[in-house]
Amino acid sequence: MAGAAIVVGAVGVFPAARSEQRIADHDFIGADRCRTCHVEAYQAWERSAHSRAFQTLSPKDQKDPRCLSCHTMVPADLGAGLLGVQCESCHGAGRYYSVEWVMRDDELRAQLAFDAGTTTSCLRCHTDSSPNLSAFVLDEKLRLIQHWPDRPAKAKP
Ligand code: HEC
Ligand code: HEC
Ligand code: HEC
Ligand code: HEC
Repeated sequence: MAGAAIVVGAVGVFPAARSEQRIADHDFIGADRCRTCHVEAYQAWERSAHSRAFQTLSPKDQKDPRCLSCHTMVPADLGAGLLGVQCESCHGAGRYYSVEWVMRDDELRAQLAFDAGTTTSCLRCHTDSSPNLSAFVLDEKLRLIQHWPDRPAKAKP
């Protein structure tokens, strides 16, 4: 069974899963794979500027490493469906956590590179040097990429 093989692999490489080395070796699986279980989030992302961040660049700039660092997910792999700012740019490389039973396990998925989505990560790319016409006001920008249900104003105790 394919699922079982993935699980064995995930446990086997567990200690290295979050190191720089593993990321460089492609633990990114691409938004199409996330879509299979997260259709609504995918559709919201597809409408957002992030999904087009690579196409935005001119053909020349699409080869410029200085631009790719923020405008695509895996600068070393411009072939497969990894272009633009994808789910895994913010949620972490998904190869190991995207198995359903891992996704349902808060602790395990966090150990397998999963990031539930932190707003501080925005500032990694939305820096003072990005060509923005207006300041980066977090609440406004979050609304523009919203792919989660509205939260109640106060968290439950
Ligand atoms: C096989 C189905 C499946 C795939 C593929 C999958 N997920 Fe999930 N994901 C789930 C399930 C199920 C949950 C819900 C866990 C829960 O509610 O306890 C979840 C939860 C999440 C959450 C919300 C966590 C929270 O606690 O609110 C995020 C973010 C997420 N997944 C991102 C991704 C990303 C990014 C990918 C692709 C790299 C991906 N998922 C691939 C099934 C999947
Ligand atoms: C530090 C991260 C970062 C780097 C490096 C970077 N960009 Fe960007 N770029 C952004 C962000 C973030 C935005 C969105 C800014 C906004 O609209 O608020 C953006 C927006 C753009 C836009 C406007 C897109 C649109 O639809 O209006 C263009 C064009 C662009 N960048 C080209 C480039 C080029 C060319 C390079 C390389 C010389 C580059 N960028 C390097 C982060 C970066
Ligand atoms: C630019 C960063 C970014 C990108 C790209 C992104 N997300 Fe998120 N995502 C977040 C943040 C931040 C949150 C948490 C928002 C909150 O809880 O207020 C989140 C929340 C979620 C949730 C939780 C929803 C819930 O019910 O709580 C899911 C599921 C999710 N993202 C899936 C995806 C998928 C699938 C993609 C790609 C198709 C994606 N995300 C792309 C930043 C991102
Ligand atoms: C990996 C780099 C990266 C990260 C992380 C990132 N962005 Fe972006 N973002 C970009 C780039 C590049 C663009 C420009 C895309 C284009 O127009 O082609 C952009 C564009 C946008 C836009 C549309 C332009 C604008 O400013 O109105 C919004 C909104 C946005 N990002 C919100 C966010 C939020 C909120 C977060 C954090 C949860 C975030 N981004 C994290 C790279 C990033």
